[in-house]
Amino acid sequence: MNAASAPTLSPRELEIFHRYAGLSLPRHVAYPMTNWWQALSSEQADQFFAASNKGRASDGAVDASLAPPDLSLYVHIPFCESLCKFCGCNKVILKKERADAPARVDRFLEALLRDIDLVADRLDTTRPLRQLHFGGGSPTYLMPEQLVQIHERISSHFDIAPGAEQAVEVDPRVTTFEQLTTLRNLGFNRISLGVQDFDAQVQQHVRRVQPYEMVERTVEQSRSLGFQSVNFDIIFGLPYQTVESVARTIEQVIALGPDRIAYYHYAQVPAKIATQRGIDHTRLPSSDEKLQMFLMGRERFTAAGYEFIGLDHFARPDEALARSLRDGTITRNFQGMTTGLELDLVGVGPSAISHLRRIGFVQNATDTDAYAEGILEAGSAVARGTSLSADDIIRQTLLEELYGNARIDPRRLEQQFGIDFDTYFADERKRLEQLEQDSIVQFAEDRRILLTDPLGRVLMRNVAAVFDAYLEPDAFCRGASHEYSTNA
Ligand SMILES: C[S@@+](CC[C@H](N)C(=O)[O-])C[C@H]1O[C@@H](n2cnc3c(N)ncnc32)[C@H](O)[C@@H]1O
Ligand code: SF4
Repeated sequence: MNAASAPTLSPRELEIFHRYAGLSLPRHVAYPMTNWWQALSSEQADQFFAASNKGRASDGAVDASLAPPDLSLYVHIPFCESLCKFCGCNKVILKKERADAPARVDRFLEALLRDIDLVADRLDTTRPLRQLHFGGGSPTYLMPEQLVQIHERISSHFDIAPGAEQAVEVDPRVTTFEQLTTLRNLGFNRISLGVQDFDAQVQQHVRRVQPYEMVERTVEQSRSLGFQSVNFDIIFGLPYQTVESVARTIEQVIALGPDRIAYYHYAQVPAKIATQRGIDHTRLPSSDEKLQMFLMGRERFTAAGYEFIGLDHFARPDEALARSLRDGTITRNFQGMTTGLELDLVGVGPSAISHLRRIGFVQNATDTDAYAEGILEAGSAVARGTSLSADDIIRQTLLEELYGNARIDPRRLEQQFGIDFDTYFADERKRLEQLEQDSIVQFAEDRRILLTDPLGRVLMRNVAAVFDAYLEPDAFCRGASHEYSTNA
């Protein structure tokens, strides 16, 4: 199949797509989205952590008969050797040869280790740790002994469960076999490679030159060391990409056979992310081309045996993410779609987020120096967060199901929260009727609300916006007044 024969929408679907695409809408990596969070004191954060040590019912009420959720720990390591122009992550570009680099990294490490101690003090650490994730920035910016130091500090406090998912994000350009060996020996079993795109012109423009052979070598090394799951991050919608060039990248990806693929729509908010201003905006693909890239990618990945999951992920049917979709434990957080819906997520490092389920969110200071100063001098780097109201919990649950399974099940929400769905969501129902007339959703006989395929799937964020009580009521068809990346 060549790229030109990739699937497309019917003329009617295309007309509807144009009406709803190109809007500023959240991707709901959290609900409420971070722009609605408030400044939070360390005392308030302490209260959230203390509450998390107690069992709780599905509406958040303390229930002493239930055990508190098991834990997931996210560690943010912000450093990178060089800047990729598209990057929307919280990173610190620090060339290793700079004279001040070792001191800055040491201060960060000192703060991070202290942060792990402080978090462990607040938590009941008999709660098993089921997931550990090193992300960034680029965790393999650090030397093997520094990675060991962080892991040892974590395992000195936490009870890492047998079979826990231990994942690390790696940039193949800076990752050595020695680092991979160290990580594997520490028990890491999942590895995620930033690949983005294989086309030389695209790579040069976004300043991320990374030949196919380099990625191939990292994959081979990871497999030889016994990492169970290899993930690739791919981005479509970058400047100079064409449907044909992305098709070639996808063929190369499939040839390398990762277990899981995040196929991200390039998210750009240059007004907020200054480093994205270096992107040549005249060379960005159009909304129609991005639609083609998405549909073509999806067809090729599924033809190669991957399951399409949520908004933008693909996984082999036997891979943990696909299994978690089937058993209902899939969720969505700042790392994208992930397993572990039932876990309390605890974040350490700059900008790291803790999501204490049905209690609230806590986020550390984003700036790495401010973070280190907060931890080392005041014993806390908490910057902002929010508690969750009963309404937030209901909507968060609904959105998790929508993003994971492309449907809403009113009966499940009624059972879980004791609401009458049609009364509770009477206003939303009217907006859904507009989406139903436009063939974006379907009302099934068993009352479930299903996203149509492919139109509803590509406009998933519009359907989600219907249920986001913080947005304007018409945001789903006109876009939000707040600045998010565009939906398509
Ligand atoms: C922290 S990086 C991964 C690890 C490492 N720093 C690297 O780049 O290889 C996380 C991922 O976020 C994705 N990403 C970053 N900025 C993005 C953007 N503006 N839009 C979509 N995806 C983005 C990239 O695919 C990247 O691999
Ligand atoms: S994409 Fe990865 S390597 Fe590039 S700047 Fe962002 S975090 Fe660093």
